[in-house]
Amino acid sequence: MADSLDSIFIEFKQKLSTLTTQAEVLNLKSQAMGKKGTITEILKNIKNLSIEEKKIIGPKSNAVKKDIETLVQNKIFDLDKDAINKKLAENKIDISLRNSLLKSKETSPCLHPVTSIQREIEDIFLSMGFDVLDGPHIEDEFHNFEALNIPEDHPARDMQDTFWFKDLKHLLRTHTSTIQVRGMKSKKPPFKFVGPGKVFRSERTDTTHEMCFHQLEGMMVGKNITVSHLIYFMKTLLKEIFKKEMEVRLRPGFFPFVEPGFELDIRWKKPNVKKGESKHSGWLELLPCGMVHPHVLKAGGIDPNEYNGFAFGLGLDRLVMVKYGIEDIRHLHSGDLRFNNQFKEY
Ligand code: DAH
Repeated sequence: MADSLDSIFIEFKQKLSTLTTQAEVLNLKSQAMGKKGTITEILKNIKNLSIEEKKIIGPKSNAVKKDIETLVQNKIFDLDKDAINKKLAENKIDISLRNSLLKSKETSPCLHPVTSIQREIEDIFLSMGFDVLDGPHIEDEFHNFEALNIPEDHPARDMQDTFWFKDLKHLLRTHTSTIQVRGMKSKKPPFKFVGPGKVFRSERTDTTHEMCFHQLEGMMVGKNITVSHLIYFMKTLLKEIFKKEMEVRLRPGFFPFVEPGFELDIRWKKPNVKKGESKHSGWLELLPCGMVHPHVLKAGGIDPNEYNGFAFGLGLDRLVMVKYGIEDIRHLHSGDLRFNNQFKEY
């Protein structure tokens, strides 16, 4: 009887391997373990066996029963898996759409205007001996506020324009000025660098506001740096971007991390002047900047009695809008390739 249990098991295993549907598997299982199944019959007969035989056949038939159940379970699992894989293979979608996009004339690739202006400005500053630094999007209070002379009760920390994390210690950086702090800590004066990147504000969006936009921070620290240095570098930058000498003016502006602080405006003509309209739209606010506050130098580990410097924060989205006459900042984040496509020639 022990031999017939072995052969039942071997035959079961062999038949099971040829089956391809769940129904066939369950059918085979009932042939062995159903009411009149081969194993069931053996189990039923145990009571008629001698004590010696019972000792062997009892545990053995239970073990074979268990093995058959495991085999059946595994087989059903494999069949399910095969069915899912088959379905996935049949419904395969190329979500990259890469080839069709590249082929289509409508959507052939070009850089987003903010990316290309960022690269252009990085190149301009590299050519003037500046380094290009990076910083994290997720910041802590120290780098975003405290080190920049923005104490805890300053309105710039208002929850409403900041995306705080649940721990109320980390946030999405609200400006690239955080890179000033990281730059000062990693460098020994004299130095000069720029730091471009995304910044985040919890803003209602409209034609001039977005909750995510781009800035390019700049900082120069050394001995006897003056406002003239600042104006020189800013004018050189604007000349390179607009491909002509730009008339600029400085107005006082308040930012806690600079003293004195300025708004640098450019003399601006409207891009699409209608008949009879004045070409001169006047001054356009473009570039907040100033001389680095001694508290900020100190927070960056620099002795303000020995060194000073200037800093600026250029809004890249705004610059793109001014340069190309774009009326709504939301176009820049629309993800609409027809918008992007217009910048191919630039
Ligand atoms: N961080 C400021 C903002 O986001 C911009 C800014 C102003 C940066 C003056 C500077 C600066 O470096 O000197 O509004």
